[in-house]
Amino acid sequence: MLLDTFGRVATDLRVSLTDRCNLRCTYCMPPEGLDWLPSPDLLTDDEIVRLVGVAVSLGVTEVRFTGGEPLLRRGLVDIVTRTAALRPRPRLSVTTNGIGLARIAYDLKAAGLDRVNVSLDTLDRERFVRLAHRDRLDDVVEGLAAADAAGLRPVKVNTVLMRGVNDDEAPALLRWCLDRGYELRFIEQMPLDAQHGWTRSAMVTADEILAALTAGYALTPERADTRGSAPAETWLVDGGPGRVGVIGSVSRPFCAACDRVRLTADGQIRNCLFAREESDLRRPLRAGASDAELAEVMLASLWAKKAGHGIDDASFLQPVRPMSAIGG
Ligand SMILES: C[S@@+](CC[C@H](N)C(=O)[O-])C[C@H]1O[C@@H](n2cnc3c(N)ncnc32)[C@H](O)[C@@H]1O
Repeated sequence: MLLDTFGRVATDLRVSLTDRCNLRCTYCMPPEGLDWLPSPDLLTDDEIVRLVGVAVSLGVTEVRFTGGEPLLRRGLVDIVTRTAALRPRPRLSVTTNGIGLARIAYDLKAAGLDRVNVSLDTLDRERFVRLAHRDRLDDVVEGLAAADAAGLRPVKVNTVLMRGVNDDEAPALLRWCLDRGYELRFIEQMPLDAQHGWTRSAMVTADEILAALTAGYALTPERADTRGSAPAETWLVDGGPGRVGVIGSVSRPFCAACDRVRLTADGQIRNCLFAREESDLRRPLRAGASDAELAEVMLASLWAKKAGHGIDDASFLQPVRPMSAIGG
């Protein structure tokens, strides 16, 4: 078991397939992009499947492929096929910006993918361009529809609100998602941008998001005891069955119930989004380590997991890697 000293067990593995992205969301990376990881450093498809297999042997039951933008990874469908063949079979999902999803949603479903999260911060085309520096709103909307048609359900939508940019759109985004049967999740903006421009005062808080939503909808909290380790607090909207979630990573941290562990595209295991240390799996992997030896590295990494992300501590330092290179 991937156990830590606080008794938490990691069962949810986030695998970053690339640090590259075809959008430039302002809360994530600068318009000119970043210095991408050199190709020889990136895990191959075989290496990823092997490491996921080791993690599954240690009790991982959920695997989410992310990035950067995971749809940019050419071997994605093959990686999904091979990880779906692992036993016990993990549940498989992808977090994507949706660009190109319309083209491969059916292939991903056939390969064994269970569901998708698609990021969408605005329904306004001009805003989308200002926010993501690319004119791709139509592709995202098309990708969402294709995922739904392919049965990659529940289709979840991730939204980050920014003050003065799209924070007036919460009710409209919710209406749009409810009308299509998508589950909307608002995520508080976290200090993980490559530009290090995050400030707590500029962050739209979970309380503010809820205030905006309750002005237009009746929200009934879902039972806290069914939340488990899920980061989102969820509410039934107008009596259900539609629901909405808020992930208050900063103002309502859920570290005590965290069951996550992360593998970066260059083969580093991270026990927290905000960790400042990582454990190298790539070097032993390429030096011929056995599965048992790789498992030892994973176990030691998790054992060192801290109690919480520490954003509120005076000593907090943003991790060196931005979100796009960690895998969100
Ligand atoms: C890093 S992206 C990677 C996957 C994919 N490219 C996507 O857009 O979903 C994963 C999620 O992290 C969110 N994200 C990125 N930077 C963030 C930040 N600083 N705070 C909160 N969420 C962030 C994105 O909005 C997205 O929903």
